[in-house]
Amino acid sequence: MTTTLITGANKGLGYETARRLVEAGHTVYAGARDPERGRRAAAELGARFVQLDVTDDASVEAAAKAIEADGGLDVLVNNAGIEWREPDGYIPGAAELTADALRTVFETNVFGLVRVTHAFLPLLRRSAAPVIVNVSSGLASLSKASEPGTPHSTYPGVAYPTSKAAVNMLTVRYANTFPEMRINAVEPGYTATDINQHAGHQTVEEGAEIIVRMATAGPDAPTGTYRDVDGPLPW
Ligand SMILES: NC(=O)c1ccc[n+]([C@@H]2O[C@H](COP(=O)([O-])OP(=O)(O)OC[C@H]3O[C@@H](n4cnc5c(N)ncnc54)[C@H](OP(=O)(O)O)[C@@H]3O)[C@@H](O)[C@H]2O)c1
Repeated sequence: MTTTLITGANKGLGYETARRLVEAGHTVYAGARDPERGRRAAAELGARFVQLDVTDDASVEAAAKAIEADGGLDVLVNNAGIEWREPDGYIPGAAELTADALRTVFETNVFGLVRVTHAFLPLLRRSAAPVIVNVSSGLASLSKASEPGTPHSTYPGVAYPTSKAAVNMLTVRYANTFPEMRINAVEPGYTATDINQHAGHQTVEEGAEIIVRMATAGPDAPTGTYRDVDGPLPW
């Protein structure tokens, strides 16, 4: 029996990933910062709710204690993420980037991922087949962002791609350190969810595909990679 925790599972790609992994027979903990939204989602999914705000030490530590007491963890999907938008939806660019804005995005996308990973590493290290999936983005790619004319180079935001580039390096460094684990960064593709005000052209079913694939990766699967459904991506 595989036990899996997904952060930010109350909606979007996290919710769809939870649905698919429940279907695949995993015991799924649906992490959500808001208890009402989280409980509702977990009940719909047939998952277990765990309150988990990735920006909050006490919340993450309590979640780790509860899951440890229930028997441990095999798979961690670091999915929770935010984009920096003005209330009217506008994404500020480099000229407007402030240290505070960058810190806010990093607080969830980077420090949150590290906080959760650090708290759950002792549980994962006791698993026979530990897996971590870090939900990155195509916008994390330095190669693509350096290529004139790509959507990656013309994307207006800076904080979000920078945070996901940090997620990619964290993925590689964790993978270097824990070769016994499968630790990969994935790009779901541009998917219609709240994070992009449903502008994405893919469905959540399509977007969750690579997350599910890497969350169910066996011991022979690659580790330390950055990929989408079609294979490895340029860093
Ligand atoms: N959609 C795309 O095109 C796309 C492409 C590439 C990568 N991604 C990545 O995919 C992941 C999922 O995004 P999505 O598209 O599914 O967006 P979404 O529908 O906005 O979902 C984001 C999830 O993260 C949760 N979250 C935000 N801050 C949190 C915190 N501090 N603690 C715990 N949970 C928190 C949200 O919870 P609340 O409901 O409480 O806000 C929500 O459950 C993100 O990492 C995103 O960067 C998305």
